[in-house]
Amino acid sequence: MSFDRIDALYAEHATWLRERYDEVLEREGWEAVVIHSGSARKRTEFDDQYWPVRPSPHLQHWVALHEPDAVLLVQKGRAPLLARINRFDFWEHPFAPESDHFKPHFEHLGVEEVSAIKRHLPTARVAFIGDDRALAGRLGFLDEAVNPREFLASLDALRTRKTRYEVACVAEANRRASMGHHAVVRAFEGGAGSELTLHLEYLAATSQDDPETPYKNIVALGTNAATLHHVSYGRRVTSATSHGEPESLLLDAGATCMGYCSDITRTWVRGRGSASADIFRALVEKVDAMQQGLCAAVREGAPYESLHDRSHDEVGRILHELGVVRCAPDEAVKVGVTRAFYPHGLGHSLGLQCHDVGCALTRPRADNPFLRNTSVIAAGQVFTIEPGVYFIDGLLRPLREGEGSARVDWALVDALTPFGGVRIEDDLLVTGPEEHRNMTREHLPRGGGDVS
Ligand code: GLY
Ligand code: MN
Ligand code: MN
Repeated sequence: MSFDRIDALYAEHATWLRERYDEVLEREGWEAVVIHSGSARKRTEFDDQYWPVRPSPHLQHWVALHEPDAVLLVQKGRAPLLARINRFDFWEHPFAPESDHFKPHFEHLGVEEVSAIKRHLPTARVAFIGDDRALAGRLGFLDEAVNPREFLASLDALRTRKTRYEVACVAEANRRASMGHHAVVRAFEGGAGSELTLHLEYLAATSQDDPETPYKNIVALGTNAATLHHVSYGRRVTSATSHGEPESLLLDAGATCMGYCSDITRTWVRGRGSASADIFRALVEKVDAMQQGLCAAVREGAPYESLHDRSHDEVGRILHELGVVRCAPDEAVKVGVTRAFYPHGLGHSLGLQCHDVGCALTRPRADNPFLRNTSVIAAGQVFTIEPGVYFIDGLLRPLREGEGSARVDWALVDALTPFGGVRIEDDLLVTGPEEHRNMTREHLPRGGGDVS
């Protein structure tokens, strides 16, 4: 997908969005909506440093700006008005947008202060969307007009099935992330490195600064992979060549394109010569095969939660085949053994947010508390498929010390614990009743395994 194609698709996305906003404004009884990109926030009240602004997804749905205090006024039946700050500032400049393809679709206004937008608002029924409620108050919005719940829900619904432009952006975000994954695998395979240097290698290969990544890179060597969101990077340098100890790496890292995210996990093993490393390598290969089987089972009309349930059946089977679990796989699922090894959900909606809106409108069953996708699978949805198996002492201890302890081979668990765990994650677009596009495997055909 070339950048030209993304630019060309933007026009149809913008037209579609304008028509849908007109419908939602009419249905929800609003004349117009002001969407604010966000305000620079102080890191603490005790100094003069600010966090980088994370633009509101509602604004980025329209326009890929990455700057504070941009304001979009969308009014029924009129061209949207985009107001941006253009006052002279010799301290800082905001990021330049990745493309200017949005320009012909808006009326433009350069303002010194956000408050200048007030002169352009209709007199009644204007909603404010943004996370700076104090600013909304200063602009004269009453509380009930700030992020009105039902209006927001209707706007979120527009983000559930992606337009062709959005798909192109997520696909490009996958391509960008793949460059980082390739670079990190090469670094892990070949040389000395710490979690921190691998993280920096990823940023360099994807041309991203840390605050620009869709979520903080998860870079976990060995036991750290048992922390699902390990971001406190170790500085300890391990080397593939100096001592040759087998080692694992879990890398969960994405990229963005026009604000749209990718979210990709790979798990690698290097070094040979220990029985436990061979079993862990087999575990990674089995999880990869299971993940591909789950992707192939994606069907329009099926509840995503049924795929999640199936992933537990598969984890039960894999743990049994490797001898980690001694009881029958269905018993391991039934009594909750698989939940101690695989505590998170199978995946989530993906788009302008890594954990995107629209696919978790209902609660999962009580035994799937962390499942973030409870939707019925439909064409146009983009979501992740990311099963995992981990050796997390705090989750396994109650099982080890409980009356069902004999269901698990604890000596084998202890032997595998230095490898932390495995997760394999791809980004899928549902394209038809039994079809999907795996945007991750187009660039990263392997889910992990032996680095060589
Ligand atoms: N990277 C966070 C997640 O996979 O959900
Ligand atoms: Mn994910
Ligand atoms: Mn992830």
